[in-house]
Amino acid sequence: MENRNSLHNYVNEMDQWLQQFNGVMEELENNPMAVMQSDSIAKLQGQFEKVMKDVNYYKDNPQALQVSLMNDLQQQASNLYQGYRAFMNQKPKKVHDKKQTDTKKNPVPIGGHKLPPLPYSYDALEPYIDREIMRLHHTKHHQSYVDNLNKAEKEMEKARRTNDFNLIKHWEREAAFNGAGHYLHTIFWDIMSPEGGGKPTGSLLKCIEKSFGSFDSFKKHFSEAAKQVEGVGWAILVWSPRSHRLEILQAEKHQNLTQWDVIPLLVLDVWEHAYYLQYKNEKNKYVDRWWNVVCWDSVAKRLEKAKQVMWQPF
Ligand SMILES: [Fe+2]
Repeated sequence: MENRNSLHNYVNEMDQWLQQFNGVMEELENNPMAVMQSDSIAKLQGQFEKVMKDVNYYKDNPQALQVSLMNDLQQQASNLYQGYRAFMNQKPKKVHDKKQTDTKKNPVPIGGHKLPPLPYSYDALEPYIDREIMRLHHTKHHQSYVDNLNKAEKEMEKARRTNDFNLIKHWEREAAFNGAGHYLHTIFWDIMSPEGGGKPTGSLLKCIEKSFGSFDSFKKHFSEAAKQVEGVGWAILVWSPRSHRLEILQAEKHQNLTQWDVIPLLVLDVWEHAYYLQYKNEKNKYVDRWWNVVCWDSVAKRLEKAKQVMWQPF
């Protein structure tokens, strides 16, 4: 019976993931590249509709659920995500340019931040990170940072409107804590992948070697920084537009110890909610195994973009 319940939960989670992926599909369809890439889009749309139909069927007919069918659904979801990534990699520059235009046209309204969809299913990073951790982390913790950032922004807008700044210190703190939490988690989901692990290549590897001597010494330094975060927080690899080098930083909570002049590239969440259900007090084990899901492609893309920001060095 427990097995049946877990199959049922799986279908519900898959349904949640598909709802989020729906937003990604809409974004793709509204992209001007979609006209030129209509075959790829149509193929993705077909895959999306097929898996959505299957999930809906099993939601309505839970008695038909079997473990092998779940594996098939998982495979379909994985193919769907791979297709999406392939499309994005095919025309990265133009897709990115369009995104930039959209950003200029449509800034996030005050109090209008949204939870970004997870770019893979909740169990995609197993066995390194459990499905339940991913589900709670994304739908509960990250969602609460988004909600509280929105609240802080609206309260600060109200303070400006009413010229009543008595509680401004409180709302500034809320905006910093929840804003940093929202932005860091948004990067965190993106710099991991079921196909992650291994070593970076190309200019990212060169940049790491130049900044830290070797990849191994970078990895050791980053892992030690993560393991030695006091209390809750993050380990963060940043590009410094000022020193023109990479640096490794710790962040206590989300916002303390931050260098405000840098751009985060690789971030590791070492709050207990990120690992405790699976790893208990073995934070070090979580940190060591986390390297298996690092998506170096995403980190390299962030570096390329970040390096366009170069201020006068001194
Ligand atoms: Fe977190």
